[in-house]
Amino acid sequence: MKGLILSGGTGTRLRPITFTSAKQLVPVANKPILFYAIETVRDAGITEIGIVVGDTREEVKGAIGDGSDFGVKVAYIEQEAPLGLAHAVKISQDFIGDDSFVMFLGDNLIKDGINSLVDEFRRDKPNCQILLARVPNPQQFGVAELEGGRIKRLIEKPKDPPSDLALVGVYMFDSNIFEAVNAIEPSWRGELEITDAIQYLVDKGYQVHPHVIEGWWKDTGKLEDMLEANRIMLEGIETRIDGSVDEESRIHGKVVIEEGAKIHDSVIRGPAIIGKNSKVLHSYIGPFTSIHDNVTITESEVEHSIILAECIIENIGSRIEDSLLGRNVTVHRSERKPKAYRLMVGDNSEVEVL
Ligand code: DAU
Repeated sequence: MKGLILSGGTGTRLRPITFTSAKQLVPVANKPILFYAIETVRDAGITEIGIVVGDTREEVKGAIGDGSDFGVKVAYIEQEAPLGLAHAVKISQDFIGDDSFVMFLGDNLIKDGINSLVDEFRRDKPNCQILLARVPNPQQFGVAELEGGRIKRLIEKPKDPPSDLALVGVYMFDSNIFEAVNAIEPSWRGELEITDAIQYLVDKGYQVHPHVIEGWWKDTGKLEDMLEANRIMLEGIETRIDGSVDEESRIHGKVVIEEGAKIHDSVIRGPAIIGKNSKVLHSYIGPFTSIHDNVTITESEVEHSIILAECIIENIGSRIEDSLLGRNVTVHRSERKPKAYRLMVGDNSEVEVL
């Protein structure tokens, strides 16, 4: 079996972070989401992986390389524009050949892995296996209507959802999917929808097995989802202190302090992670916070946030919470007169002030 991981597309919902970088490379617990996808596919025993890339191809290739760091062999498949998930399958036909494969959306996180699901697919050999999860907001997903445990209908982002069963971004196919992706037409949003391709398989009498999963799963498209994913992944860390923590500092709960990081006169309350060569001085870092590499935090409080590399946070009077700071962002208190907020913020940013 092969793996197909989708890392093209545009990350409109995470702008401005994704203006300059791939949404699949935004880190959760200091690790890019895409890395979790590769590891999940690898842990299911699949080592030949195609990664579909678009505009951010160079950045994705730079981060993953040939896959050897993950113990897999990666081939890159270039998609000229994000023309849909079924389009991504269509252009991957040469790579997949006659094999069965797992398609994994590069912005999806599935906590308990997919080992048993892949085993089930290998054992039962349906033509397709889809994963479903109950969600409170089915309008934002592909939705399945089941009848007697079988799929009756699949609809992409329905205004009036027939159920709360969302399609999870992990699919298993045999090579009959190529007949489907070559037969369907683009949807109202101009994309070749994988949902329509699977509906085609159902209509033609191919075996499509639905599997409702109970564990935690997330499509990390939006800020709240990123923060939730960060929370879930940080819960799983074990304390490891490779950097330095001075006598005036206190560490509570599960905390990772990477090599070269310095904690001085501060409190870190886990679960939290402090990246390589970052400095936390006279500050408080609260639960569910991921601080990436080369960040400096001075006289400030940060909690339940994701702070990317090279940021500087200085002398902030109130706590920073529920925030995602892109790379190389500076937030600091100024004594300059007149007393005012002075901002240089990218397009589509959001700033909440007290
Ligand atoms: O996350 C689950 C949902 O994923 C499903 O419930 C939906 O049925 C499915 O259509 C999909 O919906 P999204 O609107 O969330 O898909 P999105 O456009 O965000 O793309 C998912 C991933 O695939 C993302 O990492 C970008 C990548 N992609 C997307 C398109 C459209 C590509 O590589 N190429 C593409 O052409």
